Amino acid sequence: MRLIFLPVTLSIALAAAIEPLDSHPWQAPGPNDFRGPCPMLNTLSNHQFLPHDGRNITKDKVISAMGSALNFNESLAALMFQMAIVANPSKNATFFTLEQLQVHGVLEHDASLSRSDAFFGNNYVFNESIFNETKLYWTGETLDANMLANSKVARQISSKAFNPNYTFTPTVESFSLGEVSAPIIAFGDMQAATVRRDLVEYFFENERFPTELGWSTRTEVVNIDAILRLSEIIGNASSLITSSEAVVSTRRRDLHAGIY
Ligand code: HEM
Repeated sequence: MRLIFLPVTLSIALAAAIEPLDSHPWQAPGPNDFRGPCPMLNTLSNHQFLPHDGRNITKDKVISAMGSALNFNESLAALMFQMAIVANPSKNATFFTLEQLQVHGVLEHDASLSRSDAFFGNNYVFNESIFNETKLYWTGETLDANMLANSKVARQISSKAFNPNYTFTPTVESFSLGEVSAPIIAFGDMQAATVRRDLVEYFFENERFPTELGWSTRTEVVNIDAILRLSEIIGNASSLITSSEAVVSTRRRDLHAGIY
């Protein structure tokens, strides 16, 4: 019974917390403001859902920012904060900063979709060449799990081939799956596991919510189950093994083209 009623209660409680984007205008970071490798936390700071200076990010601020901008439920946002607090090296820390997220090998990792590997230089600022590599695999107007997964795998192969320090542990893999599915969670159709490519590109390139392209905060509450489900979908789509069906249809196409 509790399982049935809990999401309903949360959706009522948190739907009211969504704040209109008009009351959070985008403002570029200044020279003394911290920013990090997470395009979403940077965006939340640019819109002042999180502190604009990128400092003193507490659990309450994460819960409030993710609830009001993305309609995350409180327990999901609290869990994310708990996973993030390791970024602050102080014992019993109660906050982290966006600068602390830059440290390679804590939360920041190799083979990002839009950042260079630490081995090659700056690992936290948006990198157009890396993002162009990612976008090669976004082959439709609507991104699906296969396109997102293909870009993830391609970035890993590129890193593994050219970065002698390439590191990608099982823990990184689970974080990475969450990150690659994040655009669907923030901007897409969670049921269909798809998202408009233009919204995602705008978000990465500007670290700004794509309201001018028609996006607004989803009305359904996001919980941990949604994140786990989408991570699993991206994980499955990352496999390079297909069913025999796909092989048969490729052969048929080739036969048709007179190749055999
Ligand atoms: C407290 C919450 C969060 C923390 C501490 C956090 C931290 C990070 C960090 C450290 C990275 C860099 C990983 C790498 O090296 O590639 C990252 C990447 C990313 N994050 Fe977050 N994040 C948080 C929440 C979110 C949320 C809510 C979203 C969107 C729904 C999001 C979207 C992304 C995306 C798309 C990337 C991949 C960037 C890339 O590969 O270039 N994050 N995050």
